[in-house]
Amino acid sequence: MSIFRPENNLTWRVTGVEEAAILRMSRKARELRAKGHDIISLTIGEPDFDTPDHIRQAACKALEEGWTHYAPIPGLPELRAAIAEKLRKENGLSCVPEEVVVTNGAKQAITNTIFSLVSEGDEVILMQPYWVAYEGIVRLARGKPVILSSSIENGYKVAATQVAAALTERTKLVLLNSPSNPSGAVHSATELKALANVIRSHPSAMVISDEIYEYIVFDGIRPVSIGSLPGMKPRTITINGFSKGFAMTGWRLGYAAAPEPVVRAIQKMQGALTAGANAFVQRAAIAALEGPRDSVEAMRQAYEARRSLVMTWLQEMPGVRVLPPRGAFYAFPDIRPALSEARRKEIAEDVDSFCDWLLERHGVAVVPGSAFGTNTAIRLSFAASAEELEAGLERLSTGLREIMA
Ligand SMILES: Cc1ncc(COP(=O)(O)O)c(C=O)c1O
Repeated sequence: MSIFRPENNLTWRVTGVEEAAILRMSRKARELRAKGHDIISLTIGEPDFDTPDHIRQAACKALEEGWTHYAPIPGLPELRAAIAEKLRKENGLSCVPEEVVVTNGAKQAITNTIFSLVSEGDEVILMQPYWVAYEGIVRLARGKPVILSSSIENGYKVAATQVAAALTERTKLVLLNSPSNPSGAVHSATELKALANVIRSHPSAMVISDEIYEYIVFDGIRPVSIGSLPGMKPRTITINGFSKGFAMTGWRLGYAAAPEPVVRAIQKMQGALTAGANAFVQRAAIAALEGPRDSVEAMRQAYEARRSLVMTWLQEMPGVRVLPPRGAFYAFPDIRPALSEARRKEIAEDVDSFCDWLLERHGVAVVPGSAFGTNTAIRLSFAASAEELEAGLERLSTGLREIMA
Protein backbone atom coordinates (compact mmCIF):
# COMPACT_ATOMS: atom_id res chain seq x y z
CA MET A 1 0.00 0.00 0.00
CA SER A 2 1.30 3.46 -0.82
CA ILE A 3 2.09 5.94 1.95
CA PHE A 4 -0.76 8.32 2.79
CA ARG A 5 0.12 11.92 1.93
CA PRO A 6 -2.51 14.58 2.71
CA GLU A 7 -1.06 16.82 -0.01
CA ASN A 8 -2.16 14.28 -2.62
CA ASN A 9 -5.75 15.10 -1.69
CA LEU A 10 -5.55 18.78 -2.57
CA THR A 11 -7.65 20.00 -5.50
CA TRP A 12 -6.72 22.09 -8.55
CA ARG A 13 -8.23 25.05 -6.74
CA VAL A 14 -5.28 25.19 -4.38
CA THR A 15 -2.49 23.44 -6.23
CA GLY A 16 -2.93 25.77 -9.21
CA VAL A 17 -2.69 28.92 -7.11
CA GLU A 18 0.76 30.46 -6.86
CA GLU A 19 1.91 32.59 -3.98
CA ALA A 20 1.01 36.15 -4.94
CA ALA A 21 4.03 38.35 -5.70
CA ILE A 22 2.86 40.86 -3.06
CA LEU A 23 2.84 38.17 -0.39
CA ARG A 24 6.19 36.84 -1.62
CA MET A 25 7.79 40.28 -1.28
CA SER A 26 6.38 40.97 2.17
CA ARG A 27 7.37 37.46 3.32
CA LYS A 28 10.92 37.98 2.04
CA ALA A 29 11.09 41.37 3.74
CA ARG A 30 9.94 39.79 7.03
CA GLU A 31 12.45 36.94 6.75
CA LEU A 32 15.34 39.32 6.13
CA ARG A 33 14.22 41.48 9.06
CA ALA A 34 14.06 38.41 11.30
CA LYS A 35 17.69 37.70 10.34
CA GLY A 36 18.62 41.18 11.59
CA HIS A 37 18.69 43.07 8.28
CA ASP A 38 17.50 46.66 8.22
CA ILE A 39 14.57 46.55 5.79
CA ILE A 40 12.03 49.20 4.79
CA SER A 41 8.86 47.81 3.29
CA LEU A 42 6.74 49.91 0.92
CA THR A 43 4.60 46.93 -0.03
CA ILE A 44 1.69 47.46 2.34
CA GLY A 45 -1.82 47.68 0.87
CA GLU A 46 -3.61 49.01 3.91
CA PRO A 47 -3.92 52.34 5.70
CA ASP A 48 -1.30 52.88 8.39
CA PHE A 49 -3.91 54.82 10.38
CA ASP A 50 -6.10 53.33 13.10
CA THR A 51 -9.86 53.26 12.66
CA PRO A 52 -11.40 56.60 13.77
CA ASP A 53 -12.43 56.70 17.43
CA HIS A 54 -16.16 57.17 17.01
CA ILE A 55 -16.34 54.01 14.86
CA ARG A 56 -14.42 51.98 17.43
CA GLN A 57 -16.67 53.31 20.18
CA ALA A 58 -19.75 52.33 18.18
CA ALA A 59 -18.40 48.76 17.95
CA CYS A 60 -17.75 48.65 21.73
CA LYS A 61 -21.26 49.97 22.39
CA ALA A 62 -22.75 47.39 20.03
CA LEU A 63 -20.92 44.62 21.89
CA GLU A 64 -22.22 45.90 25.21
CA GLU A 65 -25.72 46.06 23.79
CA GLY A 66 -25.47 42.40 22.79
CA TRP A 67 -24.97 42.56 19.03
CA THR A 68 -23.20 39.23 19.26
CA HIS A 69 -25.56 36.94 17.34
CA TYR A 70 -25.85 35.90 13.72
CA ALA A 71 -26.81 38.84 11.54
CA PRO A 72 -29.28 38.43 8.64
CA ILE A 73 -27.44 37.02 5.60
CA PRO A 74 -27.79 40.14 3.39
CA GLY A 75 -26.89 42.46 6.29
CA LEU A 76 -28.70 44.41 9.02
CA PRO A 77 -31.66 46.25 7.47
CA GLU A 78 -30.51 49.55 9.00
CA LEU A 79 -27.04 49.18 7.45
CA ARG A 80 -28.45 48.24 4.04
CA ALA A 81 -30.62 51.36 4.28
CA ALA A 82 -27.62 53.52 5.28
CA ILE A 83 -25.59 52.16 2.34
CA ALA A 84 -28.47 52.73 -0.12
CA GLU A 85 -28.73 56.30 1.19
CA LYS A 86 -24.95 56.81 0.83
CA LEU A 87 -25.03 55.50 -2.74
CA ARG A 88 -27.93 57.80 -3.61
CA LYS A 89 -26.41 60.87 -2.01
CA GLU A 90 -22.72 60.44 -2.83
CA ASN A 91 -22.71 58.35 -5.99
CA GLY A 92 -25.91 59.30 -7.77
CA LEU A 93 -27.05 55.65 -7.82
CA SER A 94 -30.79 55.32 -7.41
CA CYS A 95 -30.73 52.43 -5.03
CA VAL A 96 -33.06 50.83 -2.47
CA PRO A 97 -31.96 48.68 0.50
CA GLU A 98 -33.08 45.49 -1.30
CA GLU A 99 -30.44 46.22 -3.93
CA VAL A 100 -27.64 46.14 -1.34
CA VAL A 101 -25.93 43.12 0.20
CA VAL A 102 -23.41 43.47 3.02
CA THR A 103 -20.40 41.13 2.84
CA ASN A 104 -17.31 40.11 4.80
CA GLY A 105 -15.10 42.63 2.97
CA ALA A 106 -15.23 43.96 -0.58
CA LYS A 107 -13.19 40.96 -1.66
CA GLN A 108 -16.00 38.66 -0.68
CA ALA A 109 -18.50 40.87 -2.51
CA ILE A 110 -16.36 40.50 -5.65
CA THR A 111 -15.95 36.75 -5.14
CA ASN A 112 -19.66 36.17 -4.61
CA THR A 113 -20.50 38.29 -7.64
CA ILE A 114 -18.09 36.43 -9.91
CA PHE A 115 -19.25 33.06 -8.58
CA SER A 116 -22.84 34.13 -9.17
CA LEU A 117 -22.35 35.32 -12.74
CA VAL A 118 -19.47 33.37 -14.27
CA SER A 119 -19.84 29.79 -15.52
CA GLU A 120 -17.08 27.60 -16.88
CA GLY A 121 -15.49 29.19 -19.95
CA ASP A 122 -17.20 32.58 -19.56
CA GLU A 123 -14.96 35.52 -20.28
CA VAL A 124 -14.19 38.29 -17.82
CA ILE A 125 -12.39 41.37 -19.09
CA LEU A 126 -9.62 42.62 -16.82
CA MET A 127 -7.89 45.92 -17.44
CA GLN A 128 -4.21 45.77 -16.80
CA PRO A 129 -2.74 46.77 -14.39
CA TYR A 130 -5.38 45.11 -12.20
CA TRP A 131 -5.66 44.06 -8.58
CA VAL A 132 -4.24 40.57 -8.64
CA ALA A 133 -7.09 38.96 -6.71
CA TYR A 134 -9.48 39.47 -9.64
CA GLU A 135 -7.64 37.03 -11.84
CA GLY A 136 -7.44 34.36 -9.13
CA ILE A 137 -11.16 34.61 -8.38
CA VAL A 138 -12.09 34.39 -12.07
CA ARG A 139 -9.92 31.27 -12.43
CA LEU A 140 -11.45 29.68 -9.32
CA ALA A 141 -14.85 30.22 -10.94
CA ARG A 142 -13.45 28.45 -14.04
CA GLY A 143 -13.92 31.65 -16.00
CA LYS A 144 -11.45 32.91 -18.58
CA PRO A 145 -9.65 36.17 -17.81
CA VAL A 146 -9.29 38.32 -20.93
CA ILE A 147 -6.54 40.79 -20.15
CA LEU A 148 -6.41 44.15 -21.93
CA SER A 149 -3.19 46.09 -21.83
CA SER A 150 -2.38 49.67 -21.01
CA SER A 151 0.84 51.54 -20.36
CA ILE A 152 2.12 54.73 -18.83
CA GLU A 153 1.74 56.38 -22.26
CA ASN A 154 -2.05 56.18 -21.99
CA GLY A 155 -2.16 56.90 -18.27
CA TYR A 156 -2.61 53.20 -17.43
CA LYS A 157 -6.17 53.35 -18.71
CA VAL A 158 -7.61 50.80 -21.11
CA ALA A 159 -9.60 52.56 -23.84
CA ALA A 160 -13.28 51.82 -24.45
CA THR A 161 -12.35 50.81 -28.01
CA GLN A 162 -10.09 48.06 -26.62
CA VAL A 163 -12.99 46.76 -24.54
CA ALA A 164 -15.28 46.91 -27.58
CA ALA A 165 -12.80 44.83 -29.59
CA ALA A 166 -12.52 42.24 -26.80
CA LEU A 167 -16.25 41.63 -26.28
CA THR A 168 -17.47 38.24 -27.49
CA GLU A 169 -20.63 36.24 -26.98
CA ARG A 170 -18.91 34.61 -23.98
CA THR A 171 -18.20 37.94 -22.24
CA LYS A 172 -19.97 38.04 -18.90
CA LEU A 173 -18.22 40.77 -16.97
CA VAL A 174 -15.93 43.73 -17.32
CA LEU A 175 -13.96 44.56 -14.18
CA LEU A 176 -13.37 48.23 -13.55
CA ASN A 177 -11.37 49.62 -10.63
CA SER A 178 -11.29 53.39 -10.37
CA PRO A 179 -9.40 54.77 -8.44
CA SER A 180 -7.05 51.96 -9.36
CA ASN A 181 -4.82 49.75 -7.31
CA PRO A 182 -1.98 49.79 -8.38
CA SER A 183 -1.82 52.70 -10.86
CA GLY A 184 -3.81 55.37 -9.01
CA ALA A 185 -5.60 56.18 -12.29
CA VAL A 186 -9.11 57.59 -11.95
CA HIS A 187 -11.44 57.33 -14.94
CA SER A 188 -13.10 60.59 -15.97
CA ALA A 189 -16.84 60.89 -16.64
CA THR A 190 -16.10 61.06 -20.37
CA GLU A 191 -14.03 57.86 -20.28
CA LEU A 192 -16.72 56.10 -18.30
CA LYS A 193 -19.44 57.24 -20.69
CA ALA A 194 -17.48 55.76 -23.59
CA LEU A 195 -17.07 52.50 -21.67
CA ALA A 196 -20.75 52.49 -20.71
CA ASN A 197 -21.73 52.89 -24.39
CA VAL A 198 -19.62 49.84 -25.26
CA ILE A 199 -21.04 47.70 -22.47
CA ARG A 200 -24.62 48.67 -23.29
CA SER A 201 -24.08 47.60 -26.88
CA HIS A 202 -23.48 43.99 -25.77
CA PRO A 203 -26.53 41.77 -25.27
CA SER A 204 -25.61 40.64 -21.75
CA ALA A 205 -22.27 41.96 -20.45
CA MET A 206 -22.24 43.55 -16.99
CA VAL A 207 -19.63 45.58 -15.16
CA ILE A 208 -18.20 45.14 -11.69
CA SER A 209 -17.16 48.59 -10.53
CA ASP A 210 -14.75 48.26 -7.60
CA GLU A 211 -14.85 51.67 -5.89
CA ILE A 212 -13.02 50.74 -2.68
CA TYR A 213 -10.59 53.70 -2.93
CA GLU A 214 -13.26 56.31 -3.66
CA TYR A 215 -12.48 58.46 -0.61
CA ILE A 216 -8.74 58.52 -1.30
CA VAL A 217 -8.54 60.93 -4.23
CA PHE A 218 -6.36 63.95 -4.96
CA ASP A 219 -6.33 67.22 -6.87
CA GLY A 220 -9.98 67.88 -6.02
CA ILE A 221 -11.15 64.94 -8.17
CA ARG A 222 -14.56 63.38 -7.52
CA PRO A 223 -14.72 59.85 -8.89
CA VAL A 224 -17.79 58.96 -10.96
CA SER A 225 -19.71 55.70 -10.43
CA ILE A 226 -20.37 54.02 -13.77
CA GLY A 227 -23.65 52.65 -12.40
CA SER A 228 -25.00 56.21 -12.20
CA LEU A 229 -24.70 56.73 -15.97
CA PRO A 230 -27.83 56.44 -18.12
CA GLY A 231 -28.90 52.86 -18.73
CA MET A 232 -26.09 51.39 -16.62
CA LYS A 233 -27.93 50.58 -13.40
CA PRO A 234 -29.21 47.16 -14.56
CA ARG A 235 -25.72 46.34 -15.89
CA THR A 236 -23.64 47.33 -12.88
CA ILE A 237 -22.51 45.71 -9.66
CA THR A 238 -21.00 48.47 -7.54
CA ILE A 239 -18.53 47.17 -4.98
CA ASN A 240 -17.32 49.15 -2.02
CA GLY A 241 -16.34 48.69 1.59
CA PHE A 242 -14.91 50.20 4.73
CA SER A 243 -11.30 48.96 4.56
CA LYS A 244 -9.52 51.82 2.85
CA GLY A 245 -11.37 55.12 3.30
CA PHE A 246 -12.35 54.43 6.93
CA ALA A 247 -9.12 52.51 7.75
CA MET A 248 -11.06 49.37 8.71
CA THR A 249 -9.16 46.58 6.92
CA GLY A 250 -9.24 44.20 9.88
CA TRP A 251 -12.97 44.62 10.46
CA ARG A 252 -13.80 42.84 7.19
CA LEU A 253 -16.82 44.67 5.92
CA GLY A 254 -17.83 45.48 2.37
CA TYR A 255 -20.89 45.50 0.17
CA ALA A 256 -22.28 45.11 -3.32
CA ALA A 257 -25.11 47.15 -4.84
CA ALA A 258 -26.67 45.49 -7.86
CA PRO A 259 -29.98 44.71 -9.54
CA GLU A 260 -32.14 42.64 -7.18
CA PRO A 261 -31.72 39.25 -8.93
CA VAL A 262 -27.95 39.62 -8.66
CA VAL A 263 -28.17 40.74 -5.03
CA ARG A 264 -30.27 37.65 -4.26
CA ALA A 265 -27.67 35.45 -5.99
CA ILE A 266 -24.81 37.03 -4.02
CA GLN A 267 -26.85 36.53 -0.88
CA LYS A 268 -27.33 32.84 -1.78
CA MET A 269 -23.57 32.40 -2.19
CA GLN A 270 -23.01 34.14 1.12
CA GLY A 271 -25.61 31.97 2.84
CA ALA A 272 -23.95 28.85 1.47
CA LEU A 273 -20.37 29.81 2.29
CA THR A 274 -20.01 32.26 5.17
CA ALA A 275 -23.37 33.62 6.41
CA GLY A 276 -24.00 37.26 7.34
CA ALA A 277 -21.18 39.64 8.20
CA ASN A 278 -20.18 40.27 11.80
CA ALA A 279 -23.11 41.91 13.64
CA PHE A 280 -21.35 44.44 15.87
CA VAL A 281 -19.09 45.49 12.99
CA GLN A 282 -22.21 46.26 10.97
CA ARG A 283 -23.40 48.53 13.79
CA ALA A 284 -20.03 50.31 13.70
CA ALA A 285 -20.32 50.65 9.91
CA ILE A 286 -23.56 52.59 10.36
CA ALA A 287 -21.62 55.00 12.61
CA ALA A 288 -18.93 55.23 9.93
CA LEU A 289 -21.42 56.16 7.22
CA GLU A 290 -23.60 58.45 9.29
CA GLY A 291 -21.02 59.98 11.65
CA PRO A 292 -18.52 62.80 11.13
CA ARG A 293 -16.16 62.45 8.17
CA ASP A 294 -13.38 64.73 9.38
CA SER A 295 -11.04 61.84 10.15
CA VAL A 296 -11.60 60.37 6.66
CA GLU A 297 -10.71 63.75 5.20
CA ALA A 298 -7.66 64.10 7.49
CA MET A 299 -6.36 60.73 6.27
CA ARG A 300 -7.00 61.74 2.66
CA GLN A 301 -5.02 64.92 3.18
CA ALA A 302 -2.16 62.96 4.74
CA TYR A 303 -2.06 60.65 1.69
CA GLU A 304 -2.08 63.65 -0.62
CA ALA A 305 0.88 65.21 1.22
CA ARG A 306 2.76 61.91 1.03
CA ARG A 307 1.99 61.63 -2.65
CA SER A 308 3.79 64.97 -3.16
CA LEU A 309 6.77 63.68 -1.21
CA VAL A 310 6.90 60.47 -3.25
CA MET A 311 6.52 62.33 -6.55
CA THR A 312 9.33 64.73 -5.66
CA TRP A 313 11.67 61.82 -5.06
CA LEU A 314 10.58 59.71 -8.02
CA GLN A 315 10.81 62.56 -10.51
CA GLU A 316 14.49 62.94 -9.57
CA MET A 317 15.35 59.28 -9.97
CA PRO A 318 17.13 57.99 -13.08
CA GLY A 319 15.67 55.13 -15.13
CA VAL A 320 12.03 55.62 -14.10
CA ARG A 321 9.01 57.54 -15.35
CA VAL A 322 6.01 58.21 -13.18
CA LEU A 323 2.58 59.76 -13.37
CA PRO A 324 1.07 61.39 -10.29
CA PRO A 325 -1.53 58.98 -8.93
CA ARG A 326 -4.96 60.63 -8.75
CA GLY A 327 -6.24 58.27 -6.13
CA ALA A 328 -5.47 55.29 -3.81
CA PHE A 329 -2.13 55.26 -1.97
CA TYR A 330 0.31 53.80 -4.46
CA ALA A 331 2.83 55.14 -6.95
CA PHE A 332 3.38 52.95 -10.01
CA PRO A 333 6.57 54.09 -11.75
CA ASP A 334 7.45 52.64 -15.13
CA ILE A 335 10.99 51.27 -14.87
CA ARG A 336 11.69 50.21 -18.48
CA PRO A 337 14.99 52.16 -18.81
CA ALA A 338 16.24 50.86 -15.45
CA LEU A 339 15.19 47.32 -16.34
CA SER A 340 17.07 47.29 -19.62
CA GLU A 341 20.21 48.59 -17.89
CA ALA A 342 19.77 45.98 -15.15
CA ARG A 343 19.54 43.30 -17.84
CA ARG A 344 22.57 44.61 -19.70
CA LYS A 345 24.61 44.62 -16.49
CA GLU A 346 23.21 41.21 -15.53
CA ILE A 347 21.84 42.58 -12.27
CA ALA A 348 18.30 41.39 -12.96
CA GLU A 349 16.50 39.77 -15.85
CA ASP A 350 12.93 40.83 -15.10
CA VAL A 351 10.88 42.98 -12.75
CA ASP A 352 10.71 40.20 -10.15
CA SER A 353 14.45 39.72 -9.90
CA PHE A 354 14.82 43.51 -10.03
CA CYS A 355 12.68 43.81 -6.88
CA ASP A 356 14.57 40.92 -5.23
CA TRP A 357 17.82 42.76 -5.93
CA LEU A 358 16.46 46.03 -4.48
CA LEU A 359 15.44 44.19 -1.35
CA GLU A 360 18.58 42.15 -0.86
CA ARG A 361 21.13 44.79 -1.84
CA HIS A 362 19.42 48.03 -0.80
CA GLY A 363 17.00 46.89 1.91
CA VAL A 364 13.82 48.27 0.36
CA ALA A 365 10.80 46.13 -0.51
CA VAL A 366 8.48 47.21 -3.32
CA VAL A 367 5.96 45.13 -5.29
CA PRO A 368 6.85 43.99 -8.84
CA GLY A 369 4.33 45.09 -11.46
CA SER A 370 4.04 41.45 -12.51
CA ALA A 371 1.72 41.14 -9.50
CA PHE A 372 -0.73 43.28 -11.49
CA GLY A 373 -0.06 41.91 -14.96
CA THR A 374 2.43 44.70 -15.83
CA ASN A 375 6.05 43.57 -16.15
CA THR A 376 7.52 47.03 -16.63
CA ALA A 377 6.60 48.83 -13.40
CA ILE A 378 6.89 48.62 -9.64
CA ARG A 379 4.36 49.58 -6.97
CA LEU A 380 5.29 51.63 -3.93
CA SER A 381 2.75 52.12 -1.19
CA PHE A 382 2.60 55.46 0.56
CA ALA A 383 0.51 54.09 3.39
CA ALA A 384 3.64 54.62 5.48
CA SER A 385 5.01 57.42 7.67
CA ALA A 386 6.96 60.27 6.06
CA GLU A 387 10.14 58.98 7.78
CA GLU A 388 9.70 55.46 6.42
CA LEU A 389 8.89 56.84 3.00
CA GLU A 390 11.95 59.09 2.89
CA ALA A 391 14.20 56.25 4.00
CA GLY A 392 12.68 53.80 1.49
CA LEU A 393 12.83 56.29 -1.37
CA GLU A 394 16.44 57.12 -0.60
CA ARG A 395 17.29 53.42 -0.87
CA LEU A 396 15.37 53.08 -4.12
CA SER A 397 17.17 56.11 -5.49
CA THR A 398 20.57 54.68 -4.51
CA GLY A 399 19.66 51.40 -6.22
CA LEU A 400 18.57 53.12 -9.42
CA ARG A 401 21.68 55.30 -9.48
CA GLU A 402 23.81 52.19 -9.15
CA ILE A 403 22.01 50.58 -12.09
CA MET A 404 22.05 53.67 -14.29
CA ALA A 405 25.66 54.71 -13.50
C1 LIG B 1 -8.78 47.16 -5.64
C2 LIG B 1 -9.15 46.48 -4.36
N1 LIG B 1 -10.38 45.98 -4.21
C3 LIG B 1 -10.75 45.36 -3.08
C4 LIG B 1 -9.86 45.20 -2.03
C5 LIG B 1 -10.29 44.41 -0.82
O1 LIG B 1 -11.04 45.12 0.09
P1 LIG B 1 -11.58 44.45 1.42
O2 LIG B 1 -10.54 44.64 2.47
O3 LIG B 1 -12.83 45.20 1.73
O4 LIG B 1 -11.84 43.01 1.14
C6 LIG B 1 -8.56 45.69 -2.15
C7 LIG B 1 -7.58 45.49 -1.06
O5 LIG B 1 -6.40 45.58 -1.22
C8 LIG B 1 -8.19 46.36 -3.33
O6 LIG B 1 -6.97 46.86 -3.49
